[in-house]
Amino acid sequence: TSSLPIFSQEEVTKHRSLQDGVWVTYKGGVYDITEFVAMHPGGDKILLAAGGALEPFWALYAVHNQEHVLEILSEYKVGEL
Ligand code: HEM
Repeated sequence: TSSLPIFSQEEVTKHRSLQDGVWVTYKGGVYDITEFVAMHPGGDKILLAAGGALEPFWALYAVHNQEHVLEILSEYKVGEL
């Protein structure tokens, strides 16, 4: 929502490990998915997107093209790009 902070791509890129936090972007939203990594049904592959956009990966793994996946993602929203 619009009450969340705006982050730069540079700031997002700083968060690409479990130690520094794992952030991703999707359609202009910024998500801190650090806590979700260990619960991901697709395992550590999720870390390939760390610090960047989900879109190219989700285009390859169409299993994410489901409402319930977006519901999970929405729980982790921390801001907007
Ligand atoms: C499966 C969520 C990122 C690869 C799944 C499933 C969920 C999920 C809920 C199970 C879907 C189902 O079977 O109904 C997420 C979320 C992500 C994310 C919330 C980001 C925040 C990624 C990325 C990749 C990936 C970046 C690859 C680089 C996979 C694969 C599966 C999977 C390969 C299938 C696992 C299997 O069924 O054996 N993901 N995912 N995911 N995900 Fe992700």
